[in-house]
Amino acid sequence: MNLPTIIVNFKTYESATGDKALKLAKIHEKVAQETGLSFAVCVQSVDVYRIAREISIPVFAQHIDPVMYGSATGHILPEAMKAAGAFGTLLNHAERQIDEETLKKSIERAKEVGLYTVVCANTPEMGARIANYDPDLIAVEPPELIGGDISVSNARPEIITESVDLIGKGKVLVGAGVKTGEDTKKAISLGASGVLLASGVTKADDPYAVLLDLAKGLR
Ligand code: G3P
Repeated sequence: MNLPTIIVNFKTYESATGDKALKLAKIHEKVAQETGLSFAVCVQSVDVYRIAREISIPVFAQHIDPVMYGSATGHILPEAMKAAGAFGTLLNHAERQIDEETLKKSIERAKEVGLYTVVCANTPEMGARIANYDPDLIAVEPPELIGGDISVSNARPEIITESVDLIGKGKVLVGAGVKTGEDTKKAISLGASGVLLASGVTKADDPYAVLLDLAKGLR
């Protein structure tokens, strides 16, 4: 995965579900191609297959379970997610938290099947703890800023520097409230390797314009 990167989490927004998810993912691909920069989308499990077969940028699942082939009805089997075309998986998002033992096993299972791992943490300290399980990237997001209008870059820049200090350069994404190229630029200038965001794109009237603006901060 090329860094720095912009990963957009589609969550369960209506604008980013089903056919609309595919349309939105194609806009990300277009911006990635036009700018030559690294973009990825993180979509609902049921949308992974339809999107991954149609676009060339990395597609992440929003979650997997550390189960094995066999008797695990209703769980998300890592092998099945890989076969569906996922490049990687998000884990432990603030809206889909898992206990530490399950997280550790999920990272191991993801690695076994070749899924890239981005693990979310609520604080830099929690991020440093999770780093012991060696995920590919750790996304630090202060929960109180998620979905809001004030970005982590503006409201809590110290979270970015602390995260990079504790976790290490080349390993940290930041997120929560990120909406503009200025937010992205500040995050990168403070040492982050990219941003994870959602509503800035999924609620935008013109996602293409927002993505182009976000991209300016990566240059
Ligand atoms: O996964 C990204 C997310 O939690 C941040 O959401 O809407 O604040 O960009 P948002």
